[in-house]
Amino acid sequence: MHTLQGLLILTTFIAPGLCAVYQQLSDLRQDEFDFVIAGGGTAGAVLASRLSEVRGFQVLLIEAGPSNEGVLDAEVPLFASRLHNTIYDWNFTTTPQEFANGRIVPYARGHILGGSSSINAMAYTRGSIDDYDRWARVTGDSGWSWNKIFPYFKKHELFMQPTDGRNITGDFDPAVHGFDGMTRISLPNQLQRDFDARFIKAADELGGKFSYNLDMNSGKPLGSAWFPSTAGGGERRSSATSYLTRQIMKRKNLHVLLNTRATRIRQTSKSHSSKSHGPEFDTVETFGNGRGSRTFRATKEVILSAGTVGSPHILLHSGFGNAKELQSVGVKPLVNLPSVGKNLTDHPLLVVDFAADATEPNVLADPTILAEALEQWKTSRTGPLTNTVDNNVIWGRLPADSPFEDPSAGPNSPHWELLPAVNLGNAPEPHLSAFISLVSPASRGTISINSSDPLDSPVIDPAFFTAPVDVASARDGVRNIRTFYAAKAFEGYIKSESPPSAGAESDEELDAFISATFATTWHPTSTVKMSPKGADYGVVDPDLKVKGIQGLRVVDASVMPFVVSAHTQTAVYVIAERAADMIKRDWHERA
Ligand SMILES: Cc1cc2nc3c(=O)[nH]c(=O)nc-3n(C[C@H](O)[C@H](O)[C@H](O)COP(=O)(O)OP(=O)(O)OC[C@H]3O[C@@H](n4cnc5c(N)ncnc54)[C@H](O)[C@@H]3O)c2cc1C
Ligand SMILES: *[C@@H]1O[C@H](CO)[C@@H](O)[C@H](O)[C@H]1NC(C)=O
Ligand SMILES: *[C@@H]1O[C@H](CO)[C@@H](O)[C@H](O)[C@H]1NC(C)=O
Ligand SMILES: *[C@@H]1O[C@H](CO)[C@@H](O)[C@H](O)[C@H]1NC(C)=O
Ligand SMILES: *[C@@H]1O[C@H](CO)[C@@H](O)[C@H](O)[C@H]1NC(C)=O
Repeated sequence: MHTLQGLLILTTFIAPGLCAVYQQLSDLRQDEFDFVIAGGGTAGAVLASRLSEVRGFQVLLIEAGPSNEGVLDAEVPLFASRLHNTIYDWNFTTTPQEFANGRIVPYARGHILGGSSSINAMAYTRGSIDDYDRWARVTGDSGWSWNKIFPYFKKHELFMQPTDGRNITGDFDPAVHGFDGMTRISLPNQLQRDFDARFIKAADELGGKFSYNLDMNSGKPLGSAWFPSTAGGGERRSSATSYLTRQIMKRKNLHVLLNTRATRIRQTSKSHSSKSHGPEFDTVETFGNGRGSRTFRATKEVILSAGTVGSPHILLHSGFGNAKELQSVGVKPLVNLPSVGKNLTDHPLLVVDFAADATEPNVLADPTILAEALEQWKTSRTGPLTNTVDNNVIWGRLPADSPFEDPSAGPNSPHWELLPAVNLGNAPEPHLSAFISLVSPASRGTISINSSDPLDSPVIDPAFFTAPVDVASARDGVRNIRTFYAAKAFEGYIKSESPPSAGAESDEELDAFISATFATTWHPTSTVKMSPKGADYGVVDPDLKVKGIQGLRVVDASVMPFVVSAHTQTAVYVIAERAADMIKRDWHERA
């Protein structure tokens, strides 16, 4: 860490003016910009990059965490899990979860330039046609439909060959991918001996809902498929590495302020308020590492991109929310928007383990193998460290005769996702894990505050499994991975299911396992929900402007009207890409 900081300070010292990165609040002299973006995460970095394409726009990006430069664990794909509970993680936890008998669930969020895209597991999944068409339907803006969003997938994506050089013809559908976008995407960089072939064989053998799907990013994800990631070229590609490259950072009109928290959004000071339609919010109050607070003013717009936890947190402390709830913690209500922090939606996660004759080396558990693998990664970006946790995926739905009201966006949206991982984790014995993520949940939670100090942590209650259909989806997921692994293709390979799920057969037994072990897939959304213009609920209009006021937009995962039935980063990238276009259009500028 010390070497890294030294290096960064040295860089700033050698190249003043060239480097628009400020390590601390006091380094930045300018107070006024056209755009001030609070949160340099997945969406924030995209916006800063796209808006600074317009030479006439002065853009300030404020990030609470440090730079991503030189952070090895954020570069080596398989090292992702090492970033939890470090300075790159906000280290949040949930409130005691009722369904888990009061257990608290760790709730990682990126605290680093690039945000959660710098610490996530890199799965590249878009969701289904139905997910986006539902957004369009419930917001009254067809611009959010699958067909209208599709060009943004391509604008974001730079699909490339895996680094092992194998021929992937027939493993994906080129028609649905982008080949000259910003973020490098690829199929798994290295095959898993034995397992990957068995996986495809099992899909063919079982057919039906397990049938092989050529490309699950076509908008029709159901079935078994290869699992692409944002580890294109064998290393992590985050919004920071792909949208804030060294070249882009050289722009004179782009300013990136690190290690600084945005604490509140404030109303225009009297001397500036000339507009006639409602109050203007053009000021961002910040706090930097013991250096006190300072405000920055946006002459065009303030954009909040602090994420599903951070954005409602800042809004609540700024007086946006339910008036009574704000008063009860000593915050003065300014804008009556009771939906702020409500409708928190997240994907619960389960792990089922099997003893298996898996021949893949357990890279992370064996120091000798790890040293070799790291050397290989450093010299050629090939080998076992270039992959994320898994190479394959199965997306499936609850049976059609399920007694519950369907919480999914439609027949193309899965309820559960099964992710097989080979020899992952600390257990030295060969084993197969299956991660089960519930991707169309009905449970809704909240982000709230319990003090008037914006530096205090928010209160995070995802209310996991409070909707019974989510428990039914979880049981169905466990039963389906058992069915899949019972295929002939795995005969002699998979030995037995391991504790604690082994032997849990009845609904009651499965529920006990689920309650005792579930975690999160880290996909929270919808706490600053989009709703139609004029709706009596929701926080932002379909153009992502905060309702009832002027000058403030929110652009990040929090605005999703419903969570997509997929890992959420790709949806965030396209939300940010479309938002950048909307903002440029509003200010009559094109890059
Ligand atoms: C551990 C983990 C694994 C995941 N795995 C995957 C995966 O494999 N595939 C996938 O698609 N998705 C995955 N996700 C989810 C995905 O990464 C997120 O949905 C997405 O990155 C969210 O983007 P965002 O812009 O909304 O927020 P973020 O990327 O989290 O950005 C918010 C930024 O705002 C900053 N911030 C917050 N508050 C303040 C403040 N007060 N002042 C200044 N800055 C602030 C944060 O530090 C952060 O940089 C994962 C997430 C995590 C945490
Ligand atoms: C998260 O916890 C780690 C380990 O305790 C700590 O070093 C780090 O500073 C914490 N992160 C933040 C943002 O405070
Ligand atoms: C890859 O395989 C396809 C068909 O299997 C073939 O047409 C193509 O020429 C191969 N590409 C290379 C570079 O070998
Ligand atoms: C939560 O979302 C639903 C569906 O969009 C909406 O009807 C409801 O009003 C929202 N709740 C709040 C408190 O905003
Ligand atoms: C407020 O919530 C935070 C985060 O959940 C918690 O750590 C803290 O103890 C709570 N404080 C009070 C006074 O309830």
